[in-house]
Amino acid sequence: MLKYEVLKYLENSDGFLSGSKISSFLGVSRNAVWKAVKQLEDEGYCFEKSTRLGYKLIGETSELSQYGIRKYLSGDFVREVEVLDEVSSTNTYLMERGSKGEKEGLLVVAKRQTGGKGRRGRHFHSPEGGLYFSLLLRPKKDYEGTSYLTVMTAVSVMDAIREILHLPVGIKWVNDIYLDGKKCAGILTEATVDFETGGVAYAVVGVGINLNAKIESFPKEIRDIACAISGENTYDCKNRLVATVVNKLVENLAYFNYDKGAIIEKYRKGSVLIGKRVNVIREEGGQIARVSGITDEGHLLVVYDDGREEELYFGEVSLCLKD
Ligand code: BTN
Repeated sequence: MLKYEVLKYLENSDGFLSGSKISSFLGVSRNAVWKAVKQLEDEGYCFEKSTRLGYKLIGETSELSQYGIRKYLSGDFVREVEVLDEVSSTNTYLMERGSKGEKEGLLVVAKRQTGGKGRRGRHFHSPEGGLYFSLLLRPKKDYEGTSYLTVMTAVSVMDAIREILHLPVGIKWVNDIYLDGKKCAGILTEATVDFETGGVAYAVVGVGINLNAKIESFPKEIRDIACAISGENTYDCKNRLVATVVNKLVENLAYFNYDKGAIIEKYRKGSVLIGKRVNVIREEGGQIARVSGITDEGHLLVVYDDGREEELYFGEVSLCLKD
């Protein structure tokens, strides 16, 4: 594509390169070069422009962009990156693409979601400013359904936020990321079963990170339990944060074959629940318990006040921190 050929020249140039030089190198009109530069800007590239000197590629933009994300992605697992201004839900979007045969490795990032989804049919508040993205996978092995995908994603999100934003976030079983006792990010894994093999045909892992939002703008019912990460570099870090979560997830997926135990150990170490009192909420009502651990399968172990122990499975209960 012409725009990428133009980009190659600008990337390899130390300073400004004039439109007429590029047009004669490529044998196209100056207008075609101008259009290509415009398209690159829409993808997130930044140029300094001078009528006399031409174009110069400059540093990165804080805007979410294909280019900005690609720059930080390692390996070739991610085949394609799509950045959307608005979508109902990046998970729903990718589940639809998956149903049409899309190959794994498509990463979709949205600047806002109008119907962001959380676990157990909840809504995930997704205003402009936050990060909402999903990755399409076609797992070749069994991750106990998809439970371990959620575990690996939680560890990846925690590690990426710690590394890039230097914040002491932790994991609240099973799929929430917590900062100072409040939820700042959530993970939703969805999958479709292949009825012939009984395995997962394709899965979508979705991550939502609350960034740069005022808590007053959150729906009333979550204001006490949610928070948004803010601070100087939260505006500029978005592309890097998405890519780092994805890089870590891809690494964890590969590592899973060798040492599943090490991944669970990270999940356990990152847990904000161990030793804490929680309300174990089921349809019939809640019951107070103390969290005693997390099993090698990622299940939560709790001890009720009457001394009874229980192993809680994914998706079975919801938990509310008591202290
Ligand atoms: C939860 O809070 O239970 C999980 C929230 C997951 C939200 C992310 S945002 C990107 C992706 N698209 C969605 O609709 N949901 C996930």
